[in-house]
Amino acid sequence: MNPESAAAPEIEPVPLRDGLVFGRTQGVALGHASVSRRHAVVTGACGRWVVEDAGSRSGSYLNGRLFQREDLVLGDILRIGPFAFRFDGLRLVATSGATGAAVSAWSLTKSAGGSKILDAVTLSVAPCEFVGVIGPSGAGKSTLLDALCGLRPADSGKVFVDGVDLYPHYESLREWLGYVPQDDIVPLELPVAEALYFSARLRLARDVPPVEIRRLVGKTLAQLGLEERARTCVGSLSGGQRKRVSVGAELLGRPRLLFLDEPTSGLDPSAEFRLMESLRELAAGGCTVICTTHVMENAHLMDRLAILNAGRLVFHGEPAAAREAFGVARLTEIYERIEMVPARPAESDSPPAPRLPPARHGSRRAAALPILLLRQWAILRADWKNLLLALGQPVVIGLMVAWVTHDPPLVLFFAMISTLWFGCGNAAQEIVRELPMFRRERLIGLGRHEYLLAKFLTLARITVVQSLLLYGVMRAAVGIGGSVGWQIAALAATAFASVGLGLAISAHSRTILQAVMLVPLVLIPQILFSGFTPPAGDMKSGPYLVSRAMPSAATQVVMDVSLFWDKKISGAMRVDFPTAFSNLNRDRSLRNGQVFRNSKPAVAGLSALAAWTFATYWLAWFGLRGKERG
Ligand SMILES: Nc1ncnc2c1ncn2[C@@H]1O[C@H](COP(=O)(O)OP(=O)(O)O)[C@@H](O)[C@H]1O
Ligand SMILES: [Mg+2]
Repeated sequence: MNPESAAAPEIEPVPLRDGLVFGRTQGVALGHASVSRRHAVVTGACGRWVVEDAGSRSGSYLNGRLFQREDLVLGDILRIGPFAFRFDGLRLVATSGATGAAVSAWSLTKSAGGSKILDAVTLSVAPCEFVGVIGPSGAGKSTLLDALCGLRPADSGKVFVDGVDLYPHYESLREWLGYVPQDDIVPLELPVAEALYFSARLRLARDVPPVEIRRLVGKTLAQLGLEERARTCVGSLSGGQRKRVSVGAELLGRPRLLFLDEPTSGLDPSAEFRLMESLRELAAGGCTVICTTHVMENAHLMDRLAILNAGRLVFHGEPAAAREAFGVARLTEIYERIEMVPARPAESDSPPAPRLPPARHGSRRAAALPILLLRQWAILRADWKNLLLALGQPVVIGLMVAWVTHDPPLVLFFAMISTLWFGCGNAAQEIVRELPMFRRERLIGLGRHEYLLAKFLTLARITVVQSLLLYGVMRAAVGIGGSVGWQIAALAATAFASVGLGLAISAHSRTILQAVMLVPLVLIPQILFSGFTPPAGDMKSGPYLVSRAMPSAATQVVMDVSLFWDKKISGAMRVDFPTAFSNLNRDRSLRNGQVFRNSKPAVAGLSALAAWTFATYWLAWFGLRGKERG
């Protein structure tokens, strides 16, 4: 099946240079009878390489297609006789089994809720086949697809990809597999080309130059007919185009096998047809494509159909044979007959002898955190109206508060509550709205901490800026007094804790709506138990204890300290700052006639906020872990 695999290890990676020749006797010597003496030539310079067939007898193939002259783009597979090379951006690396992979599943069985949702499914898919997993809703299509790609392994049975047992060797095979879930897997806020650029950065080796990635993105866009939409935001595309972008994100990793779950759901008939045609072309271009669908209109475009009913495979073969087997004139009528066809008897052959997994010689993927930070930043910039709103609202709120009150403790209280609100609000939707993307990126090896830290750092930065803007406006308009250092430290620490709270909400919510509804449930107690009003000094011991555990109360303590800082304590302060006085007095830190410099409660308050940040970060991490498998 892979005649080149025997030859592959003997050939060193070939660095590209202008005039590089591949031939049986010239240049890079490929000693095989089917290779012409002078077979193919590479010309160009770094950033643009062109490969040309030098009038060879057996022809040269790029990505499974005969060609005369082609631009080389990252991930391209060049075949010369039995040899295959993969272009890694700098070199041509001899590779084995470079085009579509074969898949065979043997007796896949899975149970859930006491019943079998997959029942001894055995099937095989040839390299570069376009296969449809078809059946009514609830038949087990997604379950089978996920079992085939290793996302949710079957309880028993085996899957072989090019003869290698998938489940125990998932890590080695991961790069071969592309998976397009039903939901979008690229950020909706970014323009198409940029979204794909970041998808590629996350999927490809770290030493691939950005210019090469841009060329690859360009080629992928052309392949999917999206060139004209390169600068359009993903979110404003039609359903069909958006699905193509998700397919594109996967193609950038140059998978040998592409799995798609209901890619045509929600598309109009013509968009559905066009997408199916693109998938057909992908398969022809050298990628095995397996996709689930419950619509039959375009099933004739597929090479083979695997028809499921109630977890059992009832048919596996070509579309024409399916019509015959079900005794129908058109494929769309199959559903009416599906109950009448008995399940194929489970094949009793033993599974094929497994081959060893491929050696993993690819260079390491780039560290994801810097890429994710850049992507978050790009999303912010792309959504400039929202960014403007985010920066405008603290100014408006600051002016509004200053208009209503000039009471420094009250102004600081509003600064604290607003900061909590900004942070929670900024973060509460962040994870829940892009779970499908997170799940997919998790499968390509993205770390939970990388993902969460990128979110946390970006959102904390925005929230700190918002909070300081608000504080600046309030201070300019009101003349708050007290220690600026403690006040800024309190607001910055509150911003961090509030982002942690928001992310924890987001990671534990099932839907965006739920996340939005949880925000008041978290924030209103922050007002109630802050110790500002009612003052902590006036609380009964129960509420007082709860209050001491709240982040808002921690901020409030620092604010109270800031108001007294460097001042001589006198009775008049009871009138100036009644709540702050009562709060600090309860902790017996105030003595009449002394200059107030007691940093202990403020340090304790900041430490409590740091602890809240840490705890909520981990809470979000656990939430994220629980959401990984959908
Ligand atoms: N985790 C699960 N727990 C219980 N039942 C499940 C689970 N996953 C799937 N099912 C059930 O298995 C059947 C097949 O599901 P699925 O593969 O999603 O079907 P399809 O994709 O064909 O619509 C359905 O009846 C579904 O309710
Ligand atoms: Mg499904």
